[in-house]
Amino acid sequence: MTALIELQGVSKFFGGLEALSGVSLDVREDEVLALVGDNGAGKSTLMKVLAGVHPPTEGRVLFNGAPVDLQRPADARAIGIETVYQDLALVETQDTTANMFLGREEVSALGFLKKKEMRSRAAEILGNVSVNVPSARAFVRNLSGGQRQAVAIGRATAFGAQIVLMDEPTAALGVQETARVLDIIKELRSQGITVVIVSHNLDQVLDIADRVAVMRRGKLVGIADAKATTGEQLIAMITGLDKTT
Ligand SMILES: Nc1ncnc2c1ncn2[C@@H]1O[C@H](COP(=O)(O)OP(=O)(O)O)[C@@H](O)[C@H]1O
Ligand SMILES: [Mg+2]
Repeated sequence: MTALIELQGVSKFFGGLEALSGVSLDVREDEVLALVGDNGAGKSTLMKVLAGVHPPTEGRVLFNGAPVDLQRPADARAIGIETVYQDLALVETQDTTANMFLGREEVSALGFLKKKEMRSRAAEILGNVSVNVPSARAFVRNLSGGQRQAVAIGRATAFGAQIVLMDEPTAALGVQETARVLDIIKELRSQGITVVIVSHNLDQVLDIADRVAVMRRGKLVGIADAKATTGEQLIAMITGLDKTT
């Protein structure tokens, strides 16, 4: 598999605090890559480097082998990297369609919103993430946690995304909704979309990921093939009890 994104010696300082320390990691085409590690290990910071939220202090990011300068989220979006934020960044008082097209509204030559087009496109997108949101007109405030997550994922994947970043997407969901979101992630993978996911749930990680990258105190301490590793081995790497680093 080819590397879609490559981090080379990426460090990120917040003042004197080194949140990321010399991280080199490749994200491959068509894979689900999970990031695990204790609180404060640097997982969210790494996701934000990929999302263009935090430009690295040191090191560089390559996309399809060429260096890219991710200074802001628009830079990441421009090369097909989309983020599902932890708080989902949905507007409760708007309907599903409006949320899907937030910041990307389609406007006619005369400046009118293309409501009909957007609504049918939104319905199509929700169909793709195979989720039963009642309708593209449904208000977000009336949706369940899992349905909201689906809208956020649908939005992230609707505009030609190659890579979707998810930081703990199931943290606030119940059992059934979590299962639904995991199905969506599998669906994205089968559609050829690369997913990078942060999760604390190691069973979940071993279920959906192809590879698991383990972080500890800002460093990447190991990468495991999900099929060839166990929860115990991951915990040993997360806590440092494996004594390999
Ligand atoms: N915007 C920020 N400003 C200052 N420190 C931060 C900021 N974001 C994260 N940190 C610090 O960087 C370290 C890594 O945080 P984070 O990437 O959120 O860890 P994780 O997601 O693995 O729990 C922590 O010590 C955290 O306090
Ligand atoms: Mg985090």
